[in-house]
Amino acid sequence: MRTPIIAGNWKMNKTVDEALDLVRKLKESLKDVKDREIVVCPSFVALYAVAKEIEGSNIKLGAQNCYYEDNGAYTGEVSPVMLKDIGVEYVVIGHSERRSYFAESDDLVNKKAKALLKKGLKPIICVGESLEQREAGETENIVRKQVFRDLDGIEPYQLNDVVIAYEPIWAIGTGKTATSEEANRVISLIRDTIKEMYSEKEASVLRIQYGGSVKPENATELMTQSEIDGALVGGASLDAEAFEAIVKF
Ligand code: PGA
Repeated sequence: MRTPIIAGNWKMNKTVDEALDLVRKLKESLKDVKDREIVVCPSFVALYAVAKEIEGSNIKLGAQNCYYEDNGAYTGEVSPVMLKDIGVEYVVIGHSERRSYFAESDDLVNKKAKALLKKGLKPIICVGESLEQREAGETENIVRKQVFRDLDGIEPYQLNDVVIAYEPIWAIGTGKTATSEEANRVISLIRDTIKEMYSEKEASVLRIQYGGSVKPENATELMTQSEIDGALVGGASLDAEAFEAIVKF
């Protein structure tokens, strides 16, 4: 059985006080949730304060990005070592916003994934097609290629610590969601790709989330699909009640 993982990607939102306010509400409202993993991903600036606030709770900490070197002259970057040091467990990499606004390539995503795993951190690797690619019938090709490139050189035993998030770009922040059948179909194709790269065993344990306009109204429908193991939630994770409802789908 794969434990569903619901992660809130707060993106570039919330000051430290606002982040603390949100996470205090979540700590209370989600304290009895046991059968799913809950992760919040605040900005770098709020990570440490949130880390202290959630100590001893069932909420885990995620970061939204990192660099792949341990330290050095990389102005503006944050390393896996630094994240690990303050209690981060998950790191989102390859988000489509980073791929499109900050030129994050599959090669870079792959380097980040390997660096994170080496340090005992768990990458949430985002993949997904654009509207143009979908309309050109390229969805399968694009997603398969991303999975192959992003996981290149990652050992089978390391897959226990990897989460993939399928996020069709056209569904992110647009209010449009993939139908649950379509999300399930692409996620199943990702699982087949893992089987091809590794084996049936790895494919059956790897968790694959859906992301893109997940809200309380569509969470149950999406989360109860056979291949979908949770959600990466953007907009709706900024609101305590909405995120609570999604976690408790
Ligand atoms: P959204 O964002 O839920 O606001 O569509 C999802 C994401 O970017 O991870």
